[in-house]
Amino acid sequence: MQIKTVGVLGCGLMGAGIAQVSAAAGYKTIVREVEEPFLKKGLARIEKFLAGGVEKGKVTAEGKDKTLRNLSGTTKLEDLKDCDIIIEAIIEKVDEKGKSYATLESVVGGDTIFCSNTSSLCITELASRTTRPDRFAGLHFFNPVPIMKLVEVIRGLATSDQTYQSVFAFAQSLGKEPITAPDKPGFIVNRLLVPYLLDAIRSYEHGLGTIEDIDKGMKLGCGYPMGPFTLLDFVGLDTTYYIANIMFDEYREPAYAPPPLLKRMVLAGRLGRKSGRGFYTY
Ligand SMILES: NC(=O)c1ccc[n+]([C@@H]2O[C@H](COP(=O)([O-])OP(=O)(O)OC[C@H]3O[C@@H](n4cnc5c(N)ncnc54)[C@H](O)[C@@H]3O)[C@@H](O)[C@H]2O)c1
Repeated sequence: MQIKTVGVLGCGLMGAGIAQVSAAAGYKTIVREVEEPFLKKGLARIEKFLAGGVEKGKVTAEGKDKTLRNLSGTTKLEDLKDCDIIIEAIIEKVDEKGKSYATLESVVGGDTIFCSNTSSLCITELASRTTRPDRFAGLHFFNPVPIMKLVEVIRGLATSDQTYQSVFAFAQSLGKEPITAPDKPGFIVNRLLVPYLLDAIRSYEHGLGTIEDIDKGMKLGCGYPMGPFTLLDFVGLDTTYYIANIMFDEYREPAYAPPPLLKRMVLAGRLGRKSGRGFYTY
């Protein structure tokens, strides 16, 4: 299938990044937000990112202009009617996502592929909220989207071979390195990363060492770009707690159970960088 026009639902942290890489890859890209101020903020985020890229010599001025020419924003779902593929990156709520799919289905053609960038929801369940479960897949980008090379392509139970292949090829055309992940909580990366982060918290609770020493140990001893507590503060302790609960619910294995300290930190509002305090103070 030939993809020419790309729709992106949501111009938040992830949607803005996805719209940017799509436009930069040469696709006519239309990004949809619920309200004008959110749209403006999202588009400004893209412009700022590109301007920063030009300053650092990572993007040419022509590249920036070309990307912005390919990109347009809207608050009307009907404007996505000619899209060949639509990537949804709105809030992590099944019902909200389902409502958007239903409205979209009343305007797009039968061949349009729907993808969700969800981190934690079941792709098969999201697909079941549409009349096109065979033309539905997970396309999980990493933050910040323009920089992170990896994309996980997830097949729901009903995703057709053709849809899977088209989505995989589309991810490659964005300059990304796709991998195929199962429709199970955590896909591949979080399935391995989250138990590691939870284990770091549990070990700290059991007196393994100081936060600083555990971070230093994993950074310098394993060559990781940052230690587990620095990473937890980046990701957000509330997000980690939420994902851990979903994984524990599905797998029922102790490795995925959120440690008591994580729950208490979330209850105390120590959410990491975004709240000014997590395992470290900012
Ligand atoms: N933050 C991450 O690191 C990350 C990484 C991978 C995947 N994800 C997933 O990406 C999705 C979005 O996450 P985010 O971090 O960008 O959230 P965000 O809160 O930054 O952005 C979501 C945006 O969607 C908008 N929105 C809500 N309903 C909408 C609708 N019906 N139509 C269009 N826009 C709508 C909101 O106004 C908001 O701007 C979630 O499914 C999340 O699980 C997030």
